[in-house]
Amino acid sequence: MKICIIGTGYVGLVTGTCFAEVGHDVVCVDNDPAKVKILRSGGMPIYEPGLAEMVKRNVDASRLRFTESTPEGVQHGDVIFIAVPTPPHADGSVDLSFIEKVAREIAGCLTQHKVVVDKSTVPVKTGDKVVETIKRYSKGKVEFDVVSNPEFLREGFAIEDFLKPDRIVIGVRSERAVAVMRELYKPIPAPLIVTDINSAELIKHAANSFLALKISYINAVSAICEASGANVIEVANGIGMDARIGRRFLDAGLGYGGSCFPKDLSAFIKISEQLGYDFRLLREVQRINSDQMDRFLKKIIETLWVAKDKTLGVLGLAFKQNTDDVRQSPAIDLCQRLLEEGARLRVYDPQAMGKARAVLKDRVVYVDSMDDVAIGCDALVIATEWPEFKKLNLARAKEVMTHPILFDGRNLLDPAELQRLGFVYKSIGR
Ligand code: UDX
Repeated sequence: MKICIIGTGYVGLVTGTCFAEVGHDVVCVDNDPAKVKILRSGGMPIYEPGLAEMVKRNVDASRLRFTESTPEGVQHGDVIFIAVPTPPHADGSVDLSFIEKVAREIAGCLTQHKVVVDKSTVPVKTGDKVVETIKRYSKGKVEFDVVSNPEFLREGFAIEDFLKPDRIVIGVRSERAVAVMRELYKPIPAPLIVTDINSAELIKHAANSFLALKISYINAVSAICEASGANVIEVANGIGMDARIGRRFLDAGLGYGGSCFPKDLSAFIKISEQLGYDFRLLREVQRINSDQMDRFLKKIIETLWVAKDKTLGVLGLAFKQNTDDVRQSPAIDLCQRLLEEGARLRVYDPQAMGKARAVLKDRVVYVDSMDDVAIGCDALVIATEWPEFKKLNLARAKEVMTHPILFDGRNLLDPAELQRLGFVYKSIGR
């Protein structure tokens, strides 16, 4: 089928490329000329494992191309995906101005029936507004359908999550739209849930908020484990074996971050409030999340007594492994808090150095290999769960550090080994 994706960010670019990969004919539109130029020259504006190769393969096969022109994209596509940002306002509510603008632009170039699909994460009842907007701005009577098709892509695993999803959710209002969406997703082997638009929109916020709740739950349990001499990994394994709970998203750490959970939680609380429900449980999830960082920072300060004028090595800057994204990254938050304490920082991340530099600027020393971070440090901190940090040369680190002290914010290392090497080792919930 012919598809148009409007917005080539983390979601739009993966969605468009994967649709091309499974055989559709895709045009991706972006209003950022620089981004279109990078993509057209085979470059990658984001890091997502396997994406660069997949883009090249499909561009070479003439199933994928990039343009700045919305009319060109809308003309091309039978199905038009809206995948533009829905950033938070200061009060947590969702800024839908990009959605509204794109809906107007689509309306302006409709000349025949199109299915307009909202892929971006939006508050429930946004679909109604998109329908209203397209009706108002389309010239004369043009037939169209609006569909909600929320994404469940984890950064760093987005291609896998697109091609092998647990389920595909579509919210529709017409049989015609159902038929088009079934045809579109036919190449993807996964259960396809057909529901109304409001339910589909709510599934997205409810899912992400539940995942964040799960993480805050195990982080709260990690505090109790520390106070009781229990081991949070053992506890997570023990409860996760219950099929009703499941082991995933029960890894205690520095709390959740990223461009989705914090934003989606604030949005869901605000949406609920506007609908007359005070979602206190989710506010507690947020509180536990920020407490988790406070507790870890306290652990560092207490161990060092004073962080001021101490040199700390921070391993990991991305908000999680397998991504270069530093938006709402707990690791960046930790760096900023340590800088406020007057500490000097040497930092390393396998992928996120560029994006981190835009935030931390020249307030830290950027080190280009993980084993060199420890040189001259009074302590090491693991802040992102990159698997390569498990292979840290600890014996060498001990030689080049002033004292062998290591804070493991993601429970990546083995306490027994650190103890054997003579490290003061602090981690989470054990
Ligand atoms: C999330 C949702 O998983 C995805 O479905 C949605 O479409 C977008 O938001 P993402 O934010 O990319 O994806 O990352 P995810 O893997 O969900 O992790 C989110 C945060 O939780 C990260 O900061 C991660 O470090 C943290 N996390 C995750 C934990 O602290 N413990 C865990 O067990 C799992």
